[in-house]
Amino acid sequence: MHFFSVILAALPLVVYGVPQRAPTTSRTVGPAPTTSNTVRPTPTPSSTIVVTPTASNSTIAPTSTAAPEPPVFEVVFRNLTAAINAPGFLTFTLVDTVADCESFCNSVEGCVFLNAFNDVNGKNTTLLTCSVYDTCHNATEATNVGGQTEPDGSVNFIRNSTAECKA
Ligand SMILES: *[C@@H]1O[C@H](CO)[C@@H](O)[C@H](O)[C@H]1NC(C)=O
Ligand SMILES: *[C@@H]1O[C@H](CO)[C@@H](O)[C@H](O)[C@H]1NC(C)=O
Ligand SMILES: *[C@@H]1O[C@H](CO)[C@@H](O)[C@H](O)[C@H]1NC(C)=O
Ligand SMILES: *[C@@H]1O[C@H](CO)[C@@H](O)[C@H](O)[C@H]1NC(C)=O
Ligand SMILES: *[C@@H]1O[C@H](CO)[C@@H](O)[C@H](O)[C@H]1NC(C)=O
Repeated sequence: MHFFSVILAALPLVVYGVPQRAPTTSRTVGPAPTTSNTVRPTPTPSSTIVVTPTASNSTIAPTSTAAPEPPVFEVVFRNLTAAINAPGFLTFTLVDTVADCESFCNSVEGCVFLNAFNDVNGKNTTLLTCSVYDTCHNATEATNVGGQTEPDGSVNFIRNSTAECKA
């Protein structure tokens, strides 16, 4: 491959070098054989690849240690028999614990407040209803005490209602 390219590079010199009368190419006839000797060292760029490993460890190490600070939830109230009824409601889910509700809030864009409560509504469950809001509220806005008649004829009520606001 390299040998072939050397031949191609030297080929014009040979072709134009034969007629010495040619004015434009006559100057290249002399140094032509000397340049062919310097072609060999050029196709060895493998030594320059050694440079790349030096940049690998210095860039990854600082970024992996920068762990995001988890938001802090401050308890607004605990164990009320009423749920929040106020603006800023985003969505809700069912969870096992208040900690699960905190994780849910962190997964919802704009959530800064949670209200986790046990809605006793005829279904046999200890799951907590986890309602999340984009605005923090307080106990004066916990006015939902249930009172809805369920399909089984029972009337629901709220217990163990916890509220937390992101600091
Ligand atoms: C990166 O690796 C080189 C060679 O292993 C080492 O000398 C250097 O201290 C390392 N730099 C960092 C920031 O770890
Ligand atoms: C939670 O509230 C209920 C109803 O008011 C009460 O019976 C219970 O003792 C309270 N639990 C705690 C841990 O305060
Ligand atoms: C409610 O569920 C628990 C366990 O899942 C069970 O032991 C209990 O008997 C159930 N109570 C009713 C009223 O269905
Ligand atoms: C509770 O929230 C209401 C409505 O935002 C506000 O008017 C009231 O001052 C708050 N109470 C406390 C104790 O922060
Ligand atoms: C009330 O919630 C707390 C956690 O906030 C939990 O430990 C407790 O078992 C719950 N009580 C009832 C009766 O659901």
